[in-house]
Amino acid sequence: MANQNEEDQAARWNGASGRAWVDVQEPLDRMFAPFEKLLVDAVVAEGARAVLDVGCGTGATTLAVARQLAPAGGCTGIDLSEPMLALARTRAERARVAAEFIRADAQDHPFEPARFDMLVSRFGVMFFDDPVRAFTNLRRAARPGAALRAVVWRRIEENPFMSAAERAVAPWLPDLPPRRPGAPGQFAFSDAHRVRTILADSGWAEIDVPPLEVACAFSAADLDRYVTRLGPVGQALAAADERTRAKVTELVRAAFEPYVDGAEVRFTAACWMVAARAP
Ligand SMILES: C[S@@+](CC[C@H](N)C(=O)[O-])C[C@H]1O[C@@H](n2cnc3c(N)ncnc32)[C@H](O)[C@@H]1O
Repeated sequence: MANQNEEDQAARWNGASGRAWVDVQEPLDRMFAPFEKLLVDAVVAEGARAVLDVGCGTGATTLAVARQLAPAGGCTGIDLSEPMLALARTRAERARVAAEFIRADAQDHPFEPARFDMLVSRFGVMFFDDPVRAFTNLRRAARPGAALRAVVWRRIEENPFMSAAERAVAPWLPDLPPRRPGAPGQFAFSDAHRVRTILADSGWAEIDVPPLEVACAFSAADLDRYVTRLGPVGQALAAADERTRAKVTELVRAAFEPYVDGAEVRFTAACWMVAARAP
């Protein structure tokens, strides 16, 4: 039986968070496009043919990798979220890209053993209830010698853009869920030592967790949508009254002012590029 977190994550990504990611897909993909390029470049450098995209969401990286590898190779995305996968499938059809999508929990999905020669992820591996179980399962899906490349966030303190909204509105939304370092969620992999231990305990080899700083940008016209739909503030606003909504929107707008540069919002993402190889 699924435990509390698995239920929470499935509920979260099939509920408000998943719908928000669908609604804000274009700005998010624009913002995270540099990571898509880094992962596609890594796939090319590895000469991979069969790639798994873990926590693929609305499918940007899956489609980019599939496009790169067609027709000789392909990419499969796995995700918990039906609304996000529905959009991923629609995008694949529209773009006529032959990507495959699986709706399942990557922690325990019975993958065909040694099916993939590379695994990639853009911010999709930090939500596991039991990361060692998850990465052991993923290693079994990898061929001997297969590479893993997963982008994850470093500490929230190194990513002030990511917490600007909640810092600004704390007095108005006192019940925002606390960020607990290491707990399943956006910053679960912020401690590189912990990431190395998880991967080693899951049987991965050649583990390397180098830092990665990436300049991200999206249209300032999308800022309100971004801050009022996503993250803890977006989730809290879904249930807030009109007065709170108006005040919170005003406060978050002001908090993001330092990141607005003409028609663009710009910030630096502080991440790890998690790398490992199946033995
Ligand atoms: C932050 S989003 C990133 C989505 C996508 N990789 C992107 O960059 O647009 C995290 C994704 O991980 C998925 N996810 C979380 N836990 C998962 C699990 N146990 N198995 C599969 N997918 C999971 C969520 O449904 C969500 O789509």
